[in-house]
Amino acid sequence: MIKAVQGTRDLLPPDTALWDFVESTARAVFRAYNFQEIRTPIFENTPLFARGVGEETDIVSKEMYTWEDRARAASEKGQSLTLRPEATAGIVRAYIEHKLARRGLNKLFLIGPMFRRERTQKGRYRQFYQIDAEIIGPTSAGSESPARDAEILEMLATLLDRLGITDWNLELNSVGSSQERVKFNEALRQALEPVKDQLCVDCQRRAVTNPLRVLDCKVLADQPVIDKLPRIADFLDEESRQHFAAVQDILKAVGIHYQINHRLVRGLDYYTRTAFEFTHAALGAQDAILGGGRYDGLSEALGGPPAPGIGFAIGEDRLVLTLQEKNLAAGAVRNPDVYIAPLGPGMNIEAARLARELRRENVIADLGDEKFRLKKSFETATKAGAKYILIVGENEVKANAFALKNLATGEQISVPRHELPAKIRQ
Ligand code: HAM
Repeated sequence: MIKAVQGTRDLLPPDTALWDFVESTARAVFRAYNFQEIRTPIFENTPLFARGVGEETDIVSKEMYTWEDRARAASEKGQSLTLRPEATAGIVRAYIEHKLARRGLNKLFLIGPMFRRERTQKGRYRQFYQIDAEIIGPTSAGSESPARDAEILEMLATLLDRLGITDWNLELNSVGSSQERVKFNEALRQALEPVKDQLCVDCQRRAVTNPLRVLDCKVLADQPVIDKLPRIADFLDEESRQHFAAVQDILKAVGIHYQINHRLVRGLDYYTRTAFEFTHAALGAQDAILGGGRYDGLSEALGGPPAPGIGFAIGEDRLVLTLQEKNLAAGAVRNPDVYIAPLGPGMNIEAARLARELRRENVIADLGDEKFRLKKSFETATKAGAKYILIVGENEVKANAFALKNLATGEQISVPRHELPAKIRQ
């Protein structure tokens, strides 16, 4: 038997109803904040991610699904292609390629699968789904404004609350401009030099290759050393400090709670200034439901015009897990309102006619087969979770009134054809 690839999984009913609930809630919230949908290809040219996300990041150096695409002619060279590990680089590529700057400020969202070759565990998969949103545009459109950062964060709080996840934590930091980060990185490197032998093997390596990543370390024994390292806040210039303060002023005014986490640096290289994560305790080790931040230099790094932006990606798999663990899944599944049971020869035709009438009236109807005995129809209707069973036999057709039985209460009544939709929806 051939099984699904490790780290990928099938999403099956009834769980898919929960995914649908999450996505339709997200779409409704995006509409209210004037975001519009963008769909970019699932694979892109590899250099997009190398340049965009950063050569040194775990994602690019270890986790991408990359292959050499066959050349079509002997004279052609094969291209290096990659399954997208995240959405932001592709969206910014599309922004540049289609000159979306002409539209002023772009508020875009994308829902779809991403691919990273990670060690799989609960909440971490090799094909996973993100609900991503970005605000990007020329500076003249206000893309750099702290008001946009606050708008994004307030929208996320609204979305999570609306999904029924109210006990989230928002962790916030400013990672400064790229120049400020160069200085911070150097200070970290110096501070780590005398103490790095006290840290885990991973951190000893990071202390040399990418000191910023030491701040991500979760090893308990390392924490006292890491807590004493320099903080990025002390390396921000006046402009970055003011920007961060302005974001916080709006958050306080609209009543969004947050915690400053000096160690939040995020695992992608494009971030500047505001960086954030929403976490939830129910998720355990992989507790980030979503992450995001500003990326004011990304467009230029990809060869485009200056186009400051800010965005986030929700890990949809993790969001669904949270809903399931909090038992918030119940309302999402909609069972059939009615199971239509044709009874006896020729009744499939009558039942099909009736089903068409009911479905036109937005009744969720499931349809049986005239070959089924009544007992089997009842069993099938019950298994499908239908509220009613509707019997379509010769006598009913003649009378143009049908036996409708409530499967929970056992109550059975005869209902004239034209009253059926109203009666069933009651
Ligand atoms: P990220 O932090 O790499 O950011 O991913 C965002 C979220 O995707 C994570 O918080 C997590 O919930 C989910 N996620 C990541 N990897 C996995 C995985 N292997 N399995 C399940 N869920 C996962 C980004 O991707 C940025 N592009 C976000 C962004 C948009 N920043 C600005 N705009």
